[in-house]
Amino acid sequence: MVEPLGAVAEIGLLRSSDARDCVEVVRSLPGWFSYPGALDDVASATSSQEGFCARVDGQLVGFVTVRLSFAESLEITYLAVHAMYRNKGIGSQLVRAVARLCKERSIELICLLTLGPTAGSSFYEETVAFYRASGFWRVRELQNAEWGGAYSLVMTALASRLLEAESGDGLT
Ligand SMILES: CC(C)(COP(=O)(O)OP(=O)(O)OC[C@H]1O[C@@H](n2cnc3c(N)ncnc32)[C@H](O)[C@@H]1OP(=O)(O)O)[C@@H](O)C(=O)NCCC(=O)NCCS
Repeated sequence: MVEPLGAVAEIGLLRSSDARDCVEVVRSLPGWFSYPGALDDVASATSSQEGFCARVDGQLVGFVTVRLSFAESLEITYLAVHAMYRNKGIGSQLVRAVARLCKERSIELICLLTLGPTAGSSFYEETVAFYRASGFWRVRELQNAEWGGAYSLVMTALASRLLEAESGDGLT
């Protein structure tokens, strides 16, 4: 059981042994992760892909997974913060960790797919609002065969822009 403490999260590298804790995080977010196979998909991604986790008092409360799309773009495949720890800045910390990874590896772009506006999910409206506030742009909505034909929204950000925000330069 996760207890909210309001403490600053420590960000570290995700290990394959964290997969079970990551599944518990998404289990707390049924509005986003109740589609068939969601928990198995998250278990698979978190045990095989690179990423970062956020811990509060040693307990995993959030994670992000990534994979290289092309030499110049890294895709965020999953990002989640436990329901009891949302809106405390932890998702932003995880996104900045991805941006720093891009900088280290000279990867310019961060991209992602999320459920698009046509799907009409109030949950995913919040997700898109978070990414936009973090410095991502909406690119295009498309019907995604891999998601059973659901509408997905392509979003992207310059990694350097996300780090400018970190250094206090602000987003335009
Ligand atoms: C999306 C998610 C990862 C964001 O993490 P978080 O820790 O809750 O977000 P943060 O506290 O870092 O928010 C950063 C900024 O995003 C914006 N934001 C966050 N949630 C928002 C919402 N529901 N509506 C509008 N803006 C929002 C705010 O501007 C916030 O800054 P502020 O606190 O200074 O106002 C998290 O809420 C989550 O796990 N959501 C459910 C699953 C999900 O959407 N995953 C991603 C796609 S699958």
